[in-house]
Amino acid sequence: MSRYHETYAAWKQDPAGFWAEAAKGIDWETPWTDVYAKVEGLDRWFVGAELNTCWNAVDRHVKAGHGGRLAVIYDSPVTGAKAQYTYNQLLDEVATLAAALEDLGVRKGDRVILYMPMIPQALFAMLACARLGAVHSVVFGGFAPPELATRINDAKPRAIMTASCGIEPNRVIPYKPLLDQALDIAAHKVEACVVFQRGQVAAELKTGRDHDWDGICRVARGFGRKAGCVPVKATDPLYILYTSGTTGQPKGVVRDNGGHAVAMKWSMDNIYNIKPGEVFWAASDVGWVVGHSYIVYAPLIQGAATIVFEGKPVGTPDAGAFWRVIAEYRVSALFTAPTAFRAIRKEDPEGHFIRKYDLTAFRTLFLAGERADPETVKWAEEMLKVPVIDHWWQTETGWTIAGNPVGLGMLPVKHGSPSVAMPGYDIRVLDEGGHEVPRGKLGAICVKLPLPPSCLPTLWNNDGRFRKSYLSHFPGYYETADAGYMDEDGYLYIMARTDDIINVAGHRLSTGGMEEVLAGHPNVAETAVIGIADPLKGQVPVGFVVLKSGVARPAAEIEAECVTRIRDKIGAVAALKTVVVVPRLPKTRSGKILRATMRKIAGREEFKTPATIDDPAILDEIRAALASKGIGV
Ligand code: COA
Ligand code: AMP
Repeated sequence: MSRYHETYAAWKQDPAGFWAEAAKGIDWETPWTDVYAKVEGLDRWFVGAELNTCWNAVDRHVKAGHGGRLAVIYDSPVTGAKAQYTYNQLLDEVATLAAALEDLGVRKGDRVILYMPMIPQALFAMLACARLGAVHSVVFGGFAPPELATRINDAKPRAIMTASCGIEPNRVIPYKPLLDQALDIAAHKVEACVVFQRGQVAAELKTGRDHDWDGICRVARGFGRKAGCVPVKATDPLYILYTSGTTGQPKGVVRDNGGHAVAMKWSMDNIYNIKPGEVFWAASDVGWVVGHSYIVYAPLIQGAATIVFEGKPVGTPDAGAFWRVIAEYRVSALFTAPTAFRAIRKEDPEGHFIRKYDLTAFRTLFLAGERADPETVKWAEEMLKVPVIDHWWQTETGWTIAGNPVGLGMLPVKHGSPSVAMPGYDIRVLDEGGHEVPRGKLGAICVKLPLPPSCLPTLWNNDGRFRKSYLSHFPGYYETADAGYMDEDGYLYIMARTDDIINVAGHRLSTGGMEEVLAGHPNVAETAVIGIADPLKGQVPVGFVVLKSGVARPAAEIEAECVTRIRDKIGAVAALKTVVVVPRLPKTRSGKILRATMRKIAGREEFKTPATIDDPAILDEIRAALASKGIGV
């Protein structure tokens, strides 16, 4: 029998008592005055309390006598490198790096941007910032210089930490030239850059500003300097993580220290069912929220071991990569995106690779980041013979909104649903007028305020945008921007975004942001970018451009330039491979581009020609343009 229902009811009856009890799993420097309070109009958790997140993730395990336990496992099929760090070694690395950052002037409250590949140093850097009370902001290594520059301008970091390169299966990507370009574009001037030199590429360091990572750590070590944990307020920011909004300007999601630590710990016990000393693997990237929560903070706060995997589910070297890692490190639970499983299934539909490895330690597969399509879930269940748990969450929340809490005892799985609301989340499905819709009926999925611990209290330096983006449409609720329905048993079904966000291989991207970039092409007058269904990545973007009058260049040339432009300005991760020149875009008489209708044409879905359309003939032009690219035929 699952304890889910009684646990959820206990939270509902006494939210403050529930979270105070959960908070016992965390070491506090100073206790709170209020478990929950409104501070300057914002919902805040553990007000008045002080703690240090790095202490909770590292030091306390060493102090408790578990320093010899494995903390970080690095496995890099793209370089052939492997390494392991115990909690003792992790503490040494992190305290030394933090001392070196202190020497560079980094202090509590300063921001530090990390532009890092998937190497253990990325974790050391995050934890070193947390140790000093500095606020890290990790920028995914696949983002191009203009995206990095936007984040530099918004976060105004004192320092930036990077590595000399990232490694994709088909190429080595020197990071330093990208960082230098970003710093040239950015208005904010950065005092110090710390560069980890990897064997594959040597980065050129500029005198004065740039510092060699190993060099500054050697100096700190030479002086026997190690930084202690600086207590911060529970409500102080631990990190800022930028995520796609509806424009090219990303949203700086703020995560505070106290609520985050409590939710991370609660989730490891009750959702993931991971015990201290076990191995937990989130096959994501530290640049995404899954990486923050479940590669770094939650497993370490729990005293478990985490895996830093620098590879892909397929091609590094084959579709057995995940099973090899699970067997080699006796992984208890894997957390990844459904797209990774679609990629594996495509290469190894019969599961031949799975049977080559000893997966006896493996208990549960968790999926999130995009809708888990029932076919993929069923395949994974059949092949792995373990529970496959879909769960739904967002960068904004940092942990599960709806899931199936294995630690509380699993509820029945319903394919296509990430299951039920977690304690802390009072989920309501609303119509446009803000009224609850009947069970089974589609609506806007919202969370009744306040949001639980770990969820964003605000956006970095932008309370106004926070309120406007999330709280204004449905007063009294947080708007998730996901649409879906709830069934009679309280199971949720997440069907679509209500904004212009698309989900490409588990990566969250803004089509509005891509349109802004395409509109910057000198020959382009108008653009529309839509997400279309893709059997591997879930969705991929397709761009339409209307040329300025008088442009006589070949369409193919401009289309190719548009594709390159997106790679250069946003990054390869946007995966925009198709851009098509069209004579005009379908619009309503008031000038609104009919993107939903274009999506339906691309997906060969039934649709009614909108009554307000300016000229229905344009839809045939769009159909023909898509067909010329092999789409919608
Ligand atoms: N640095 C630089 N470039 C990167 C990058 C990084 N950290 N990560 C991805 N890219 C590039 C890739 O090289 C690729 O470039 P290309 O167009 O020149 O080939 C492009 O961005 C798209 O990458 P990706 O989304 O990884 O697609 P893929 O086709 O290489 O691989 C999958 C497809 C499904 C195997 C892969 O997307 C995957 O493993 N996804 C898991 C998703 C995930 O971890 N999501 C996080 C949330 S849980
Ligand atoms: P991100 O902020 O990158 O984690 O993306 C969050 C968005 O991804 C959500 O708003 C959903 O649209 C989608 N998403 C994440 N997990 C799931 C899931 N389990 N099922 C359906 N959609 C999901």
